Amino acid sequence: MLTAEENKKLTEVGPGTPGGELLRRYWHPVAGASELESEPVLGVRLLGEDLVLFRDLSGKLGLLEAACCHRKVSLVSGIPQEQGIRCCYHGWLYDCEGKCIEQPAEPTFSRFKDAVGQRAYVAQELGGLIWAYMGPLPAPLIPALDVLVHEDAWRDIGKAVIPCNWVQCIENSVDLTHVDYLHGLYYDYVLRRQGREPLPKSDRVFGGRKQVEIGFDKFKFGIKKRRRLEGDTENAEWQVGANPLIFPTMTRAGGRGSLQIRVPVDDVTTLTFLYSCSQPDDGLPVPPQESIPVYDVPLYDENGKWKTDWVTGQDIMAWVLQGPIMDRSTEQLGASDIGIKLIREMIFEEIDAVANGNDPYGTVRDPSENLPFLLQINESGPARRTGYMDNHWHQFSPIYGELKALMSRPSPARTAMEEEAKKKKEASYIS
Ligand code: FES
Ligand SMILES: [Fe+2]
Repeated sequence: MLTAEENKKLTEVGPGTPGGELLRRYWHPVAGASELESEPVLGVRLLGEDLVLFRDLSGKLGLLEAACCHRKVSLVSGIPQEQGIRCCYHGWLYDCEGKCIEQPAEPTFSRFKDAVGQRAYVAQELGGLIWAYMGPLPAPLIPALDVLVHEDAWRDIGKAVIPCNWVQCIENSVDLTHVDYLHGLYYDYVLRRQGREPLPKSDRVFGGRKQVEIGFDKFKFGIKKRRRLEGDTENAEWQVGANPLIFPTMTRAGGRGSLQIRVPVDDVTTLTFLYSCSQPDDGLPVPPQESIPVYDVPLYDENGKWKTDWVTGQDIMAWVLQGPIMDRSTEQLGASDIGIKLIREMIFEEIDAVANGNDPYGTVRDPSENLPFLLQINESGPARRTGYMDNHWHQFSPIYGELKALMSRPSPARTAMEEEAKKKKEASYIS
């Protein structure tokens, strides 16, 4: 339980707020690179600020405050130029650093343009996403997560705008006990109501086995989770680190080639990216991918009800049902909520670190230290890989059929793996 004041500190994202200052020390994706191919100027909202994202005619990315400093018309209707973006109203031209470089209607001798400009932020492309950084310069590096930088794979990116505060989404990533109920009992209930059979064990999270013990370990970039499952002996290895939380906004959940990124849009809105990196493990080359598709993930079914016959849809419903900003002053946390306590503790600690002038958790500045990590792109077997795709966001992807074919393409190596997989009892699945 938090006081109302603590809850505010935890959840606010705007400029000048403690939480907003922390979040401004991290990179956040704001769009897919392919979205900028079809529309070179996009309006984006991040950390409570309305911005314009564009690529000028020279190919440079720009990320500026949206409202033109002249008469406040949004640059979202601006025109990309060789250098920068021109406001549609009176033609003022801004370069990608926000400097005003032309004011066509002002006297030719005027130096007025030198005195005005747009607030500018840094934008960079990585892994098919455009990332934004809104903190003090120099910016740190975008962590080289394997799913973002691995070369021999296909990618696709789902996205959805969620009407609630970002902390609810990230707390869910360390709320391990929900998996047994929301993705087990409730999932069965939803399917039953639809007149469908319960999922077979092989398609259930953890093979339908409940977690009997959970734990968490901090590591360089966030939190690794531990769990012991029903039927495991006391001395059995814990399942460790399969889907870590990357502080503060990312989590690997939905298969090992996946990444969920929760982007704080404002205090009551979160943009979630459901990112997939599909790499067959038969060792054969992957055909080149021309463009990484970005697609919308539906929150509701055709009747306007929550679409909860898939795993992340169940999570999304739970986040939103906690309210726009969850009231943590009246909650009742139990012993099983240690993950929730840990993530909050980390957010508060890192808010203080930033207030004291330090880099927060997981900041990387030295390129030699920014090596690809979490190298666990592949699932454990071909059947499992395509099976989980049916229960996750991949089912909504415009290249779903091609991805399934890629991940299960026939090859000698795959045949051998399938033989091996048949012999092995499935023990570990990723939520
Ligand atoms: S409002 Fe943008 S140039 Fe006038
Ligand atoms: Fe979940």
